[in-house]
Amino acid sequence: MNILLIGGTGTVGSHVASALAAHGVPVRFLTRSRETLAAVQKPQEAVLGDLNDADSLRHAFRGIESLFLVTAHSITETGQGLTAIHAALDAGVRRIVYLSMAVAPGMMRIPHVSSKAPIEHTLITSRIEYTILRASNLFQNDRCVDEFIVGGTYPSPIGRLGIHRIDARDVADAAVTALTLSGHERRIYTLGAPELLTGETIAAAYERCLDRRVRYAGDDLELWERTVATGMPKWKRDDYRILYRFYQEHGLVLDSRDFMEQEALLGHEPRRFGHYVTSVCRELVAQEPALV
Ligand SMILES: NC(=O)c1ccc[n+]([C@@H]2O[C@H](COP(=O)([O-])OP(=O)(O)OC[C@H]3O[C@@H](n4cnc5c(N)ncnc54)[C@H](OP(=O)(O)O)[C@@H]3O)[C@@H](O)[C@H]2O)c1
Repeated sequence: MNILLIGGTGTVGSHVASALAAHGVPVRFLTRSRETLAAVQKPQEAVLGDLNDADSLRHAFRGIESLFLVTAHSITETGQGLTAIHAALDAGVRRIVYLSMAVAPGMMRIPHVSSKAPIEHTLITSRIEYTILRASNLFQNDRCVDEFIVGGTYPSPIGRLGIHRIDARDVADAAVTALTLSGHERRIYTLGAPELLTGETIAAAYERCLDRRVRYAGDDLELWERTVATGMPKWKRDDYRILYRFYQEHGLVLDSRDFMEQEALLGHEPRRFGHYVTSVCRELVAQEPALV
């Protein structure tokens, strides 16, 4: 089975690569990085390529049957996704598993949600065996705010209504099943763990684990932009502001059918946020001198 991972070095894709390796399935990575290219060891392979440059993909698809596709958060995301699909179709790839985002009514005004719609549409209207994984907010996003959490604040303004979040390892498990087994073709799955998490409950989970006060910084998007998002380009800050405003006003709630279908794909219950926090807290404590 010849699998190409586009996004295989990222948060979700790296778990897909290791889960496939654990199943004895070697993969090929597409990467823009010469360092990654040099570091990948047999039986895995890597090729240099960039979705912003269609010509650079020429060698990536040689002999490939299945593609795991991540389109990174970017102002050229739609074009990148369409480029990947066209290259895959030209190369005769049989199956594509695409990492998309959980959507609810009203979310299409969020740029990194709407940028995925044409990519999904192209898959749905193609003849290829596609599986679309619409993942909700990843637990692992919190790793970007480690230093705030250790300092006693949960700063992501996700609001007080609650969102169903998901562990990236569960998204990866779902991707591995969809890549390696049949029965999930031409399907769209929404992935999220059943626990509804708010800014307050997330802060409380870190507080319990770290055994120190961790408070939710609140819903103030100006404050978030001034403190957490200072290094982000404006287009990204604006995009996240719309996302967080949506979470604050509507939450992100999956339904019982989503959970049932997801469990059939995963083959196990999704990982719980508390367990994720326990494992991360050990790391946070170990790294603390470097973070504060
Ligand atoms: N975070 C969430 O809560 C969440 C939830 C649902 C869906 N998503 C979606 O998941 C996607 C991001 O996934 P992730 O967080 O796993 O990725 P990530 O950690 O941001 O890593 C990005 C990956 O994409 C590759 N990449 C970036 N630009 C590329 C380009 N121009 N050409 C080829 N490869 C490129 C990178 O590879 P190299 O650096 O090796 O080239 C890397 O493997 C986004 O579409 C996001 O909207 C995120």
